[in-house]
Amino acid sequence: MRVINKIEKAYDRNLILIFEGDKEFCEYISEDGKKLIATMIEKEEFTGKKGETLSVNFLQNGKLISMDILGFGKKEECSENIFREVLFKYLSGKSGAILISSNREELNRADLICEIVGNINYSFDEFKEKKSNKVDVEFFSSEAIDITESLILNEATDITRNLVDLPANIINPITLSERVIELGKEFGFEVEIFDDEKIQKLGMNLLYSVGKASVTKPRLIVMRYFGDRESEDIMGLVGKGLTYDTGGLCIKPADSMMNMKDDMTGGATVIGTMCAIAKNALKKNVVAVVPACENAINGNSYRPGDIIQSMNGKYVEIINTDAEGRLALADAITYIVRDEKVSEIIDVATLTGAMMVALGTFITGVFSNRDEVYSLLEKSCNKYGERVWRMPLNEEFAEELKSEVADLKHMGNRWGGAISAAKFLEIFAEGTPWTHMDIAGTAYNNSTKWYKKGASGVHVKGLYEYCKNR
Ligand code: BES
Ligand code: MG
Ligand code: ZN
Repeated sequence: MRVINKIEKAYDRNLILIFEGDKEFCEYISEDGKKLIATMIEKEEFTGKKGETLSVNFLQNGKLISMDILGFGKKEECSENIFREVLFKYLSGKSGAILISSNREELNRADLICEIVGNINYSFDEFKEKKSNKVDVEFFSSEAIDITESLILNEATDITRNLVDLPANIINPITLSERVIELGKEFGFEVEIFDDEKIQKLGMNLLYSVGKASVTKPRLIVMRYFGDRESEDIMGLVGKGLTYDTGGLCIKPADSMMNMKDDMTGGATVIGTMCAIAKNALKKNVVAVVPACENAINGNSYRPGDIIQSMNGKYVEIINTDAEGRLALADAITYIVRDEKVSEIIDVATLTGAMMVALGTFITGVFSNRDEVYSLLEKSCNKYGERVWRMPLNEEFAEELKSEVADLKHMGNRWGGAISAAKFLEIFAEGTPWTHMDIAGTAYNNSTKWYKKGASGVHVKGLYEYCKNR
């Protein structure tokens, strides 16, 4: 994607964005072209309703111009999300060089076009001989528009999506750590990896127990970016990094296991966010932690009934080994609060199927112990078309976590399962401002209005925006 102010080449398509009822389209079309479009509009009764397209071909300076006019509906009804939806639908399946322009100031949205082109052009095809087609978009604007930030956000989002799409025979706790070390060098943040010995030494027994049955043992990936040495304020990000979730001894049925390579999406999201923050050189301090492990099965697996001491000292009774994410996260949250001394935490996790039941596949459930954090996070996510909804944290759900044999158990009953999971995490934040994003439904799509099928990369941009503005 580029912004240009001079047309110097021929395009496979020229795309003009209009509102319903617009008659003046574009300065650079010849009189003949304008006339042709006018008659086509009369004949076909094209008015520019939301998503409506008119295609015309005409000769201009001896060259055949192929032009599409895309309607965005009524100006007053065209929200940013409608813009995303209409452009995404139009560009889906297209390829080649496309010139986009608009007479309308409101449709002159190089930032949104860049975002949608990023969503369209990402593909996971490194294991396919036949690569998918890409669109090569240029946006015509007489004024200079800087899209550097948007391009970096796309790059960071693609890193996240690729890490999620890569299968668990390639991405395990160790290879994920190696990739993050490389990303740290490339994008400019510090990376420290704690191996399984260090994890045990620190008392992170919950994390260790979840991952100990795998041949690739747990790692704690710590990323640090200090863009403001004068400030003591440190934003803390935590991402669930289950490189595969079989369910452990409480094994998942085959159908439910199929997509469990993306149980490290929360981790991949905070990794992508760190890339965006560092490359855009934000004047902020951010530390991100990913507890990376694989919930596998062998003779050394942790079991229902086990009692394990967490890093914060509390003993936890294990009920179901498939509720493993909250265990790995609990120790990571204790670590980031106590050892990294962050001022605030946001964790991101594909935590519960119950979240997906509650909100479906395009809205992330967000839990927070601070109203002002939720408000800013909602605004930051919405800026990038990432939809969120606030969930409750009533004390009744914490009561479900009482155990007969230990300080607490890690899960409550089935009803409101996403909330009792959040209540479990809240304990480990120890009163620090804490927000939890359950992305079980939104991490991976079967395509929504402006995300393709596969890893969505959702919240890389929203979290970046949040860190930038807090
Ligand atoms: N990784 C899953 C949650 C999940 C489910 C993510 C579906 C994406 C799609 C998590 O570890 C899990 O297995 N949760 C259990 C918890 C239950 C045992 C309390 C669940 O939701 O069934
Ligand atoms: Mg599980
Ligand atoms: Zn899981």
